[in-house]
Amino acid sequence: MATINDNYLKLPGSYLFAEIGRRVAAYKEAHPEADVIRLGIGDVTQPLPAVCIEAMHQAVDEMAHKETFRGYGPEQGYSFLTEAILKNNYASKGIHFGTDEIFVSDGSKSDTGNIQEIFGSADKIAITDPVYPVYLDTNVMAGRTGTLQKDGHFAGVTYLPCTAENNFAPELPAERVDMLYLCCPNNPTGTTLSREELTKWVNWAKANDTVILFDAAYAAYITEPDVPTTIYEIPGAKDVAIEFRSFSKTAGFTGTRCGYTIIPKGVTGRAADGSRVPYNQLWNRRHTTKFNGTAYIVQRGAAAIYTEEGQKQVKELVGYYLENARIIREGLTAAGLEVYGGINAPYIWLKTPHDMPSWDFFDKLLTELNIVGTPGAGFGPCGEGYFRLTSFGDREDTKRAVARFQKLKF
Ligand code: MLT
Repeated sequence: MATINDNYLKLPGSYLFAEIGRRVAAYKEAHPEADVIRLGIGDVTQPLPAVCIEAMHQAVDEMAHKETFRGYGPEQGYSFLTEAILKNNYASKGIHFGTDEIFVSDGSKSDTGNIQEIFGSADKIAITDPVYPVYLDTNVMAGRTGTLQKDGHFAGVTYLPCTAENNFAPELPAERVDMLYLCCPNNPTGTTLSREELTKWVNWAKANDTVILFDAAYAAYITEPDVPTTIYEIPGAKDVAIEFRSFSKTAGFTGTRCGYTIIPKGVTGRAADGSRVPYNQLWNRRHTTKFNGTAYIVQRGAAAIYTEEGQKQVKELVGYYLENARIIREGLTAAGLEVYGGINAPYIWLKTPHDMPSWDFFDKLLTELNIVGTPGAGFGPCGEGYFRLTSFGDREDTKRAVARFQKLKF
């Protein structure tokens, strides 16, 4: 008889955003007339930059002719894209990687979820709390944790609380771990780690032989100079950090799908025979075995953001969402709410009034104001009493939602 991967049974029934989708759909069915504004899942609403559309149209035309048609491409990404990324996002800051240290993919959700496969199954993980659920759920699926405890934590995981009390900057773990997930700018809190804080983490990782899995999907939203846009700005990070980046939030590719992961060859792990093996080698093996490359048309669209005009258009797009973030942040503050994030990130993290449980607050907003957000508890026990709003909505919807908040009553 075939058996199942029992680790899946340790997980709560549904993925956070699937559960929110289910609740909103049920509400809409019962109240078809309700004008629901969705500021829940971090999905973009504005069209792709014109340069991307143009480049993709051209790529489609190439596909229509035998001479320019493309079948399978390099699994790691076409050089026109990898070279443009390395030049614009790294070499421009004096950080140099070989084209065999970057892997283009269908997005950071897949990469941050799949990366754990190249680590030992008994490796110990540390995650912040609250956290983007993909990091934890995929490690649960892989059997790297125990079961879910009454306090909402999985046994065998080192949790690093991030709350208003520590300014959402996690303390160094009390014990050593093998893999450590950091997300900056942070999803869900919208807060960041300064250069000094990140340096502390890189030094700790070096001293403890820990690999930092650094999710920088929101790097394009950084507005303050003291926040590094890549972990490799920190000396020594090339020996301990793997970085994930995405076109989803930078250029509106949530539905188009394109991201990339940097795995420097200096990041190594210990094999059973005691030798050190670069994770780059393992990921290359995995990527070429399980992935056939991101679509050529999509990679052409992604590469277009690195032209002069592309950079201008992407800046405008990010600026649009950052302006929404400002509108939400200031509007909610004026409504008397305690608000964090939204300066270097498209997420606003607010304290629920009167310490209301975050799922209750979700229901209250949905039913009384017809606004969808994300309950903080969905990101971990330390997210209880908090709530996340995204600035990825349409401007008018964002303004209307903020206006509705002024009517919030308890
Ligand atoms: C979120 O809402 O947290 C994001 O949409 C997550 C993602 O990009 O997968």
